[in-house]
Parts: sequence; structure tokens; C-alpha cells
Amino acid sequence: MSLTLPRWIAHRGGGSLAPENTLAGIRLAAAMGFRAVEFDVMLNGDGSPFLIHDETLERTTDGHGLVSAMSDLDMQRLDAGNGEAVPPFVEAARLCRQLGVLANVEIKPARGYDRETAAAVAAQAAAIWPAAGPLPLLSSFSLEALGVARERAPHLPRGVLFETVPADWLAIFRQLDASTLHCAADRLSDDVLETARAQAIPVLCFTVNRPVQAKKLFSRGVTALFTDRLDLFSPETAAYKR
Ligand code: G3P
Ligand code: MG
Repeated sequence: MSLTLPRWIAHRGGGSLAPENTLAGIRLAAAMGFRAVEFDVMLNGDGSPFLIHDETLERTTDGHGLVSAMSDLDMQRLDAGNGEAVPPFVEAARLCRQLGVLANVEIKPARGYDRETAAAVAAQAAAIWPAAGPLPLLSSFSLEALGVARERAPHLPRGVLFETVPADWLAIFRQLDASTLHCAADRLSDDVLETARAQAIPVLCFTVNRPVQAKKLFSRGVTALFTDRLDLFSPETAAYKR
């Protein structure tokens, strides 16, 4: 497995410097020197994976209603910011490959669509990233989705996402054969960090936009941080290589 984690991961594409989950955001992050980009992927009504965070369109596009009510053509007609349509996952994946940035693909199923979403994302990701060469990191709050990703694309590393890490996290982590643990920055306990360190498991925290908080988390041994503030942090140093 080839997974190199930099210290910083641009959140939702280009963080707060570009419309979220857009190709423009990914390009901006790469241009600013970020070596990794996180984005969210959900299925539309045609069962195609697109970059979008919410189940509804209003917050991040000029559309209305549910993502699951949109066809592929509808998605092309939406404006996700600065005239860019909602990007199909394959376009974002190819762009990351082309730019040489690590894609952290957050599988974000609409309620009840965990299996379908993971299956579609894993199939497209496996086609774009064969086993040799740099790989993306697939992550999800949905353990069901991660299980499906493991079945469909076992060679792609998986990250388990929690807001608060539960007591039985290590068993879950092992069952999914995961590579990374992701959690909310303000909820990370010393116990979890200590166990992760003992097991050589990288810990990634979201979403960190304050330098003081970043400094503290790195000094506690956190591997990498997600940020919206691409303007505040120097993205270069590698934090983990395997
Ligand atoms: O993947 C880390 C982070 O993106 C999870 O939260 O809501 O921003 O997708 P959210
Ligand atoms: Mg996300």
C-alpha cells in the first residue's frame, strides 16, 4: 500500500478560499502547495457520485431540493460557485491524480444509501487508481459504507471517521482493515491518542482553523489536520509514509 500523509489536508476542496467541493477548490489547494485534499461524495438520483456535502442543494448551489432528486443532466446545470457545475467524482479523482495530490474521498451517503454510495464510489475509484502507484484515502462516518468499500476495492486505504471516538474503536478499525483514524479535533482524548500511537495508527483531526489549536494537536502527536484556512498554514511537511 502506498499512502503518504502530509501534515495538512485542504478541507472540502479549497477550504474557505473557494466554493466548497469544486474542481476550482482542488486546483487552488494544489497551487498553494497542499499535498492532500478532502472532498465529500454523494449519489444523485441517477446513482452517479458527485462532490457535494449536504443532501440538499440550497447551501452550496443555486438549485433547490434533494441531491437524490437530480439527474446527471440536472447536476451539470447547477452552479456550485463561480459558474462551475457540481463536479462528478470521476473528474475530481482524475484531477487529483493529474495534480499529484492525495485525494481523501469522504463517502457521504444520503440517509439509507450507504451501500449504494460506497459501491459506486469504490468502483469508480478502483478504475482510476489501480493498485500500483499513489492511492487515495477513502473515508466515511458510515461503517457500512466502509465495509462495502473494503469488499469492492480492497486495495484502497480506508479511514474511519468519528465525531467522538467510541470506546470500541480499535475493534471497528481492525474489522474494516482501516489505515487511518479521523475525528473531531476538540473531542480527541489522550487515551485514544495513546492507543493509536502504540498501534502506529495515524490520527487525523478535523476541522482546524486556528494556529494555536493546530500547534497543540501536533504537539500531542496528531498526524495530520484538515483545514479550511489554506491561507494560514504551511502545507508541506510529510507526516506519515507507508
Ligand atoms: O472528513 C473530515 C470532515 O470533512 C468531516 O466532516 O462534515 O466536513 O464532511 P464534514
Ligand atoms: Mg467531509
